[in-house]
Amino acid sequence: QNAIYNAGLSGVLPDYPVDFASLQARAEKALSPMLLNYVQGGCGDEHTQYSNASAFHHWGMVPRMLVDCSERDLSIELFGTRYHSPIFMAPIGLNGEVTQDRKGDVAAARASAETGVPFCASTLSNTPIEEVATAAGNTPGFFQLYTPKHEGLAESLIQRAETAGYRALVITLDTWLTGWRPRDLNTANFPQLRGKVLENYFSDPVFRSLLDKPPEEDLAAAVGTWAATFGKVLTWDHIAWFREMTNLPIVLKGICHADDARRAADLGVDAIYCSNHGGRQANGGIAAIDMLPGVVKGAGGTPVLFDSGVRSGSDVIKAIALGATAVGIGRPYLYGLAIGGAGGAAHVLRSILAEADLLMAVNGYPTLEAVRSAGAEITRD
Ligand code: FNR
Repeated sequence: QNAIYNAGLSGVLPDYPVDFASLQARAEKALSPMLLNYVQGGCGDEHTQYSNASAFHHWGMVPRMLVDCSERDLSIELFGTRYHSPIFMAPIGLNGEVTQDRKGDVAAARASAETGVPFCASTLSNTPIEEVATAAGNTPGFFQLYTPKHEGLAESLIQRAETAGYRALVITLDTWLTGWRPRDLNTANFPQLRGKVLENYFSDPVFRSLLDKPPEEDLAAAVGTWAATFGKVLTWDHIAWFREMTNLPIVLKGICHADDARRAADLGVDAIYCSNHGGRQANGGIAAIDMLPGVVKGAGGTPVLFDSGVRSGSDVIKAIALGATAVGIGRPYLYGLAIGGAGGAAHVLRSILAEADLLMAVNGYPTLEAVRSAGAEITRD
């Protein structure tokens, strides 16, 4: 894990930054103002987005000494697969746009193949999810669903994910409507981006059957049909409907309240994903990391995935100490893609993992289980 750091100490500096601030500064230069607003923007005055990251600084761990940490194990078991790291790439719609060839989702999948860090493909992938799954090679990923109103279309998207070899169905609950994001309005980016991002949708046979003319002939009508079918209003009753539709493990993304976590666990979902969408959906909320302990308690043993505000290896370790099974990396890998494609994203993931590994070593935690059982040693100021 520490190849990047050790090489740096001996004078071979990394090609890309290893800290989030420098990474972001590089990405700001690489992205157009429109894309930057899309990627960086959050809801309202972005206070929740800001708190997501800054709240990590209020949590601290107490190091333990005289523990043999010469070997560290960062592997986890998730959905019946052993992954050698506890991080994954969170689902990001339009991620394809951030690379020159508009195939950023394929580049992210290549980074996944290279690093063994699973990638969660978004419904709003630029590239059909089958092609993305192939690019991920031997690292099985997850598929994130924005549930369409049209039930046959929802079923088709899920079936395609299952056939393509994704290992979990991540159902995003917080985005049946898009939040109030001033930066989207400031650069009017949505109309420009929408027509480009929908190739995963546009390739769907059920979606195509809803159109008079294929998207290649009438893009505006296809975009209109997409908008009209987006965003089914879900309630707890729909969980059984999903369960009937698929054998994939079901993950509910956007659960932040302990009672919701308890209810989801009682319904037998396979994992709960604590996230506030990186502050992009509701402003004025509590930092996601501060909600994690309650969600873990409510989940009562059901695995908990976490994202929102994770910027470093120490953030990853803190989330695990607070009970997360796996930790999602969002904007940082996107910035990696923007500055260096698959190689840039792989670098970001490796840097985060290397820092996490080093932190475990110096803090006296040889395994993630040791980090988790040190939960009592993590405190908030
Ligand atoms: C997202 N996120 C997201 N989530 C999801 O379930 N489906 C999606 O298509 C998207 N799209 C998306 C686009 C962009 C530009 C961003 C930044 C985020 C939310 C994502 O999965 C994750 O919850 C956040 O990125 C976590 O916040 P940070 O750590 O990136 O700030």
